[in-house]
Amino acid sequence: MPDEPAPAAGLVAGSGFALPGQSWVEDAALVDGFSNGLAPEALASEEARHRALLAAIRTPIVSTTMDGRITGFNGAAVALLGSPARLYGRPIREVLPFAHDPRDPSGAEMQGRLADATGRTVDLDVSRTLLHDGPERGSAVYVVHDISRHAEVNRLREQLLYNVAHELRGPLMVLDNALEILDTEYEALTAQEFVQVLGSARRTSRRIRTLMEDLLSAGSIQSGHFVVAPRPTVLKGIVDDAVEIARPSMEARQQSIQFDLPSAGRTVLADRRYARQVLSNLLVNASKYSPEDSVIRVIARTIGNMMRIVVEDQGPGIPPEQQAGLFERFYRVRADTDAPGVGLGLAIAKGIVEAHGGSIGIETEVGTGTRVWFTLPATRRSSADPARR
Ligand SMILES: Nc1ncnc2c1ncn2[C@@H]1O[C@H](COP(=O)(O)OP(=O)(O)OP(=O)(O)O)[C@@H](O)[C@H]1O
Ligand SMILES: [Mg+2]
Repeated sequence: MPDEPAPAAGLVAGSGFALPGQSWVEDAALVDGFSNGLAPEALASEEARHRALLAAIRTPIVSTTMDGRITGFNGAAVALLGSPARLYGRPIREVLPFAHDPRDPSGAEMQGRLADATGRTVDLDVSRTLLHDGPERGSAVYVVHDISRHAEVNRLREQLLYNVAHELRGPLMVLDNALEILDTEYEALTAQEFVQVLGSARRTSRRIRTLMEDLLSAGSIQSGHFVVAPRPTVLKGIVDDAVEIARPSMEARQQSIQFDLPSAGRTVLADRRYARQVLSNLLVNASKYSPEDSVIRVIARTIGNMMRIVVEDQGPGIPPEQQAGLFERFYRVRADTDAPGVGLGLAIAKGIVEAHGGSIGIETEVGTGTRVWFTLPATRRSSADPARR
């Protein structure tokens, strides 16, 4: 019987790894403590069952001596933390630097981050259980949970809250100001000034409403409850609605807009409010990421049975290495993070377009500009019938 604690039963490398100077007989002897004095054959089969069970568990499990030296692990631990040779005999704190040693009274629950066997950064939650096999012997079992997804969702949620608060602060200040002026200076305002104050308040509340719509759409797209109600809708109507939303941004930057659209009555099969949301998001992007005095173009063409709508700008373009996550929620190109926005516009546009059976894409060249296109089902019918508007 060795005089130090040994691997917990079944906690062995599942890859046929032979432990130097250690035999399964020793392991078998050491599980005797909780095998209730079974006969050797029964004990061996009991131990084999334990091993099979632990190998089947997809949760990484590592056992150590009371000094924190690793004596056993299952296949899931190898997949997460590295090869058996890298694990066996190493101090637990070299493998899980944030973990407490078995004798450390600070607590049995630990959380931390590390690079896994493939180099990916993972967030881990580790719980430690001490097994007392007798007054002199004992071992610790560390059960490791990969909580990266959960941590990522939490990070995104925090980031969203921060960004939304940041996005709301500006418009709310403008609204506060407008109300203050109307309250204290109403008598002194000329008719023209009054219209200006009211106009700015209206534009601002529209901006808040657009942000709110984006958040609601993002929420329902993400949860899978997003439903559109497509019906024949005049393309020009969608374009006009979207331009109205983007106009304040374009006017503030002295940008002009040009249209190259099919005949006025052409219709698409679309949910007008959501189609407007796609196009206004693309137009606002084209405006806020492009220089002052530049030109934004909206081009639409029928291709087969789809309408392809393109928003083209003369902005800085997006470098190839930053294009990968563009249609993901909260993704923002690093250089642009000072510009207002929460990183939802393109993700929402993709969700809406795909819900209509269309597709969306981006062509961009650094120094030249960006062209974002999307397709919606085209309808062949004319809009002469006012009921379809
Ligand atoms: N036309 C464009 N030109 C250059 N960069 C763009 C353009 N459109 C989008 N981007 C980049 O892609 C990122 C993602 O765009 P997206 O519309 O999803 O989010 P946002 O504009 O940052 O915020 P939001 O649309 O939610 O207000 C932007 O932050 C910006 O860096
Ligand atoms: Mg945007």
